[in-house]
Amino acid sequence: MPDSNNSGIQDGPLVLVAGASGYVGGRFVPRLEGVSVRVRCLARTPDKLRPLVKVSTQVVPGDVLDPASLADAARGVHTAYYLVHLMSDSKDFEAEDRQAATNFARAAKEAGVRRIVYLGGLGDDADQNLSPHLRSRHEVGQIFRDSGVETIEFRAGTVIGAGSLSYQLIESLTNRLPVMLCPRWLSTPTQPIAVDDVLAYLSAARELHAGGSRTFEIGGADVVAYADLIREYARQKGLRRWLISVPVLTPYLSGLWLALVTPATYSIGRHLIEGLKNPTVVRDAKARDVFPIRPMGVKEAVRKAVAESKA
Ligand SMILES: NC(=O)c1ccc[n+]([C@@H]2O[C@H](COP(=O)([O-])OP(=O)(O)OC[C@H]3O[C@@H](n4cnc5c(N)ncnc54)[C@H](OP(=O)(O)O)[C@@H]3O)[C@@H](O)[C@H]2O)c1
Repeated sequence: MPDSNNSGIQDGPLVLVAGASGYVGGRFVPRLEGVSVRVRCLARTPDKLRPLVKVSTQVVPGDVLDPASLADAARGVHTAYYLVHLMSDSKDFEAEDRQAATNFARAAKEAGVRRIVYLGGLGDDADQNLSPHLRSRHEVGQIFRDSGVETIEFRAGTVIGAGSLSYQLIESLTNRLPVMLCPRWLSTPTQPIAVDDVLAYLSAARELHAGGSRTFEIGGADVVAYADLIREYARQKGLRRWLISVPVLTPYLSGLWLALVTPATYSIGRHLIEGLKNPTVVRDAKARDVFPIRPMGVKEAVRKAVAESKA
């Protein structure tokens, strides 16, 4: 049986969260803890997570790259959330992503899990230049769908919220550099989404009627360029910033540049940067028809993130 600190006071279906210690997972678990479900979190280091969750929430040890560790975690689970981001400094993160998703899907299938909910990335599958990072995020969704477990995949661009890696990049760049030499990717169109709206979609996915696997592209109310995000953040922080376009900055150099000025490690920066050249815009609007969620725009999302950073 899973290592559990559940006092047994909760009823309702059992929900598993993989990635509960991460940015999105760490904000999602408290939401689940507020509704009538039993919550189980999968963690590589349970001792770190335990103080952060309610006493009624189970914390079970597990690593998605270790298939043997997943069987107990998946037992009895109704809905399993996959909010895992490997993004290690491994050269072969695509193979690891694939292996991790295959392990998780197999454990879910064998345990009779009814639904997997996965948060991946936006990006056009037909784009020949889709970055390895975004392609890999899409492949993970496909692995879940192919497993035979009903899968709800959300595809999001930049998630705006204090602590989100992609938002931290914007924050760090803008805070530190009064004058920015901007690579071309700063003009790529993107449709950022506030973390609260992401959490609303993740919550709603649990109650979606059964009906086969579905993929939903999700984004905020505005399509902007990354440079606009920087400008909006600077405006709200009262910072004067100059952005000067330099078309020759390659993803490699951009990654090195980010490594100098941001808290993200170079390899994570590079993977993210490679993805920034791809437009991340909602092209299929069916999430609007299916969910009663009307995501906020960039100004409001940045306002909330700035306020959260100050708190
Ligand atoms: N943040 C964004 O802007 C954004 C935008 C679009 C989509 N998304 C998607 O949202 C999902 C979550 O992203 P995030 O920003 O919350 O990521 P994150 O903060 O980097 O968190 C990643 C989580 O994955 C866990 N993890 C890593 N390797 C693991 C392993 N081998 N076994 C089990 N757990 C492992 C980490 O646990 P440890 O504590 O053990 O490391 C952590 O809980 C990802 O699929 C990402 O693509 C995020």
